[in-house]
Amino acid sequence: MVRKSLVAGNWKMNGTRQSSAELVSLIREAAPFRCDTVVFPPAIYIEHVSGLLNSTSVLIGAQNVNSNDHGAHTGEISPTMIKELGCSYCLVGHSERRMVYGESSKNIAAKFGALITHQITPILCIGETIEQRKAGQTEQVVEDQLSAILEAFVPGDLSLAVIAYEPIWAIGTGETASPSVAGEVHGFIREMIRERDYDLAEGMRILYGGSVNPDNAAALMAETDIDGALVGGASLKASDFIEICNVTGRN
Ligand code: 13P
Repeated sequence: MVRKSLVAGNWKMNGTRQSSAELVSLIREAAPFRCDTVVFPPAIYIEHVSGLLNSTSVLIGAQNVNSNDHGAHTGEISPTMIKELGCSYCLVGHSERRMVYGESSKNIAAKFGALITHQITPILCIGETIEQRKAGQTEQVVEDQLSAILEAFVPGDLSLAVIAYEPIWAIGTGETASPSVAGEVHGFIREMIRERDYDLAEGMRILYGGSVNPDNAAALMAETDIDGALVGGASLKASDFIEICNVTGRN
């Protein structure tokens, strides 16, 4: 099965209303790309950016969501709210949320379920720390993070999702996993999904994230089991992001 590649730009907590508009207008001019493309601005700018992307092929996503639909959750944003602003994707389980904001596998599964209910595509992020890699625990860590989701949902629900393998030691460090190191973990992830359901595994897009840039993107994307990129720092620079989209052209 041919999986359409996907490039996702996670802006994290960066930019201003003005710089977001400038960035997105350059991306808009360069679109459409051969890959699917989605940007994740800070929540406060989603509505503005969403308006600027209206009637283009570039989609919009949220970086975080609460698993509840409404209620006494000060500071939180619901799936209905992000959907109303035009989000068709949402990140879940990003290592910054797991490690800095203490999100557990249980929280992550609840958010994942809420997104599925609202037909918003979850991008489930998984990956190991440098200590875990050095201790030979990469597969175990990835397996634990992934099985918490694979066991909690039926294949029909899981088929809406995207997985992102983001080794934590490669995030924001300039140190990228080599194509073969990343490709090996992606193959392991796909095999785990295959054990759950063959068709689900064939259709599942597995993105690589961690210091992706225009110089390393093409080699990473050439790996059979790498179906796109989740880009942090380089997604803030229009020319870099556009170039990554241009070299990620499998369709
Ligand atoms: P960098 O591309 O800046 O390493 O960030 C990766 C990331 O965390 C995307 O979610």
